Amino acid sequence: MNSLSSGCLAQVLGKLHQGAEAADLDYTAEVMAEIEASGSTLEQVIAEKLAEERADYRKIYRDRADNFLAVSPAYGRFLYAMARACKATRIVEFGTSMGISTIYLAAALRDNGGGVLIGTELESAKVTRARANLDAAGLADLVDIREGDALETLRDVGGTVDLLLIDGAFTLYLPVLKLVEPRLKPGAVVLGENAFDPGYLDYVRNPANGYLSQPLPVDEGRGNEFTVRTA
Ligand SMILES: C[S@@+](CC[C@H](N)C(=O)[O-])C[C@H]1O[C@@H](n2cnc3c(N)ncnc32)[C@H](O)[C@@H]1O
Repeated sequence: MNSLSSGCLAQVLGKLHQGAEAADLDYTAEVMAEIEASGSTLEQVIAEKLAEERADYRKIYRDRADNFLAVSPAYGRFLYAMARACKATRIVEFGTSMGISTIYLAAALRDNGGGVLIGTELESAKVTRARANLDAAGLADLVDIREGDALETLRDVGGTVDLLLIDGAFTLYLPVLKLVEPRLKPGAVVLGENAFDPGYLDYVRNPANGYLSQPLPVDEGRGNEFTVRTA
């Protein structure tokens, strides 16, 4: 048995994924309708979203304060498996939201024998909800959620990092990676969810920067990038 398949955690995650689907239904439909109506390609729509974010990413996420924007159950299981495979004891997560991905990663820490997950979230109400969800999952003791902007809150992550999940503002993937980079151990895994920013992809796909990287065939279309620190 592992924690993910234990009754309590499976129940908490099941409820959270249901809540996420209900809360994000309208937003997802809105985005799909926008793409269809514009007649633009997915690449063009992504480029527009990146430009909007560059103008004011804080406003974009303030407007989404009630949305989960969470990983899928399949990606969550992948997160758990990766953290187990790396025997992770220190994980950093950019973009906590309501804590769904955090629960998968913290469950792996528990099953690895302990450790710490440092998460960060801009929206205060989301931080409160994520903490409550982690409490319900019995994993709160493993997680330090820092409220505020990752560019400030992740300046000091306190030690060597085994796994970094990047799942926040699309335009900050590269600056956040560079912030945590000195702390990545050789062989660390960096997972970019919604990694659409060409600047980020160019950087991690260039072996001269000390990474080996490729798209991940989980939830195709969501821009999942799998990267290993080789330096
Ligand atoms: C896609 S959601 C994260 C979903 C979460 N990882 C999960 O699967 O449950 C992105 C989150 O990042 C937060 N965020 C965006 N920019 C941020 C920043 N600069 N610092 C901290 N959090 C940020 C947003 O408020 C939003 O809740």
